[in-house]
Amino acid sequence: MLKIGNIFIEKYPVLLAPMEDVTDVSFRAICKEFGADIVFTEFISSEALIRNVDKTLQKMRIYDFERPAAIQIYGHDIENMAQATRIVSQAKPDFIDINYGCPVKKIALRGAGSGLLRDLDKMEQMTRAIVQATDLPVTAKTRLGWDSESIVIEEAVLRLQNTGIQAITIHARTRSQMYSGKADWSWIAKIISNPDVKIQIIGNGDITTPQMAKKAFEQYKVDAIMIGRGAIGRPWIFKQVKHYLTTGQLLPEPNVQERVQIAKKHFELSLKYKGMPRGIFEMRRHFAIYFKNVPNFKTFKLQLLTEQDPDKIIKILDQIASQYGDFTPQPAYAYDNMEQGEN
Ligand SMILES: Cc1cc2nc3c(=O)[nH]c(=O)nc-3n(C[C@H](O)[C@H](O)[C@H](O)COP(=O)(O)O)c2cc1C
Repeated sequence: MLKIGNIFIEKYPVLLAPMEDVTDVSFRAICKEFGADIVFTEFISSEALIRNVDKTLQKMRIYDFERPAAIQIYGHDIENMAQATRIVSQAKPDFIDINYGCPVKKIALRGAGSGLLRDLDKMEQMTRAIVQATDLPVTAKTRLGWDSESIVIEEAVLRLQNTGIQAITIHARTRSQMYSGKADWSWIAKIISNPDVKIQIIGNGDITTPQMAKKAFEQYKVDAIMIGRGAIGRPWIFKQVKHYLTTGQLLPEPNVQERVQIAKKHFELSLKYKGMPRGIFEMRRHFAIYFKNVPNFKTFKLQLLTEQDPDKIIKILDQIASQYGDFTPQPAYAYDNMEQGEN
């Protein structure tokens, strides 16, 4: 069960993680259609928002069909984050999420994203300032700590829960792990079993199968789960997870014909909301994964990744459907180090 402001998801809430250059409106719409309960925008720089950077302003556009949806912001300066919160509030997301997890050097070393894990006083002050700057609900998303020698997640959760935020997403890795190694869910279990922790916890990290999703709810007892990389090129994971959690039955992977239908729809949305040529460029990473593990696919892949004419891309997709039809590729992930496995 998850409750954020007026949003109430009673059973098995499954959220789409914020991902830069991935979770634009077209991808959010597709994931929503497959059952994602809440979607998040890509993270948005507070400084760029204040400077009115056009591309950044576009990123915070929320459409009614994708609600409930959150806008995620990041930054290192408390006053700028409060100011960005006021700007973002005007875009009327259902809530605002604060990024305390980004590990990228130029962000974390400047004291934004996961950089705040090295200064919990500032993290707490920043969170309070953001809560005070808006009438919207606020949540935060973070990691276990800066590195394995400095795991601070318990203290961070205990401090943040008193700031007025409504939920905390924990990506169960440290900053120094970036995206490598395994997410260590034992920390999530530890936090949830701490009687002093009252705030809702959203578990995140390495969920790629319905079975892992079930384990997150049943063994780790999270209030909600968030799926990131496991949804790239496989937005149907939301349907598979929901179906398994409610019926215990595993749905089959979609065949190539079905993938073509999904990819086409995604592409049409990308063109509609991004226009040309961005609508094409931004689909390329998705195309590559929709058809990963399809044998002898090199020529089609090259065509999909280079063609600049939308009508021709649709024709290529139709050819793929007619050539591979009901073939079902093995599940494939956007990142080679991601596997199906235990968490
Ligand atoms: C390409 C990419 C972009 C990401 N961008 C963001 C972001 O903008 N904000 C954020 O909080 N996390 C971001 N993340 C982290 C994910 O939200 C998530 O926490 C992480 O990938 C672990 O979950 P997963 O194992 O389900 O992918 C990003 C991850 C990837 C792979």
